[in-house]
Amino acid sequence: MKYTYREMPENLKGTYADISRNWGFCWKESVMSVPSPLFLVTTYKSNGLPNASMQSWSTFTCANRGSGYYALLGSVNKNGHLYRTLQETKEAVINFMSAEAHAACMATIRNNEFDKDEITASGLTTEKADWVNAPMVKECFMNLECRYVWEKEIVPGDDHVVICLEVLGGHIDEEHLADRIGDNGLLYNIHYQMNPENVGKTAHDYAAVLQRKVDVGEY
Ligand SMILES: Cc1cc2nc3c(=O)[nH]c(=O)nc-3n(C[C@H](O)[C@H](O)[C@H](O)COP(=O)(O)O)c2cc1C
Repeated sequence: MKYTYREMPENLKGTYADISRNWGFCWKESVMSVPSPLFLVTTYKSNGLPNASMQSWSTFTCANRGSGYYALLGSVNKNGHLYRTLQETKEAVINFMSAEAHAACMATIRNNEFDKDEITASGLTTEKADWVNAPMVKECFMNLECRYVWEKEIVPGDDHVVICLEVLGGHIDEEHLADRIGDNGLLYNIHYQMNPENVGKTAHDYAAVLQRKVDVGEY
């Protein structure tokens, strides 16, 4: 049996799924719960200090008939520093953290001030990128150096945009070369999953690793 949802279920009224609309979230996300990778995007601000911005709701794809690899940042706030710095420098690094570095990366949100080096202030270390004018985070096991390509609003007039970045190249920690998606690998953002038929238990956001790989055979 399948439950069917198109309008917001009565049960969800007044819950996080309902009121989070005030912060730009739709109840369907809490019910449909599609995870997306979580990463830290680093850039330079116009004062020369490193900016760090946690991002999710994104995906990665090949394009240009296989000659390029691209990040589609699915929901970048136009009022944030990441958006501003990307307009200015057109370059960024996407840093993937394992669970170990998650807390420090999250601390960049508390340190989100224009006059702060957000990487150092969060207990992380800056490394110099090879090909772009943007800082890299040493504690993140994979750093992708990227160049801005284009942006577009999903709905005209929205305050968030999809931004396409071309991945020029990357750096991968030797301990992660064999596997980047296991327990010690990249994290996924799952935004407030709720059971619309039983909302008694309060849900929360969490970062998760891929818990189990299911073998569906070769193809
Ligand atoms: C798990 C998680 C995921 C986030 N994903 C996004 C995102 O996809 N887009 C966005 O604009 N902000 C996102 N944020 C919020 C920003 O990280 C936060 O507002 C940050 O301070 C913005 O930094 P900035 O001003 O340097 O861009 C996320 C926050 C968390 C905790």
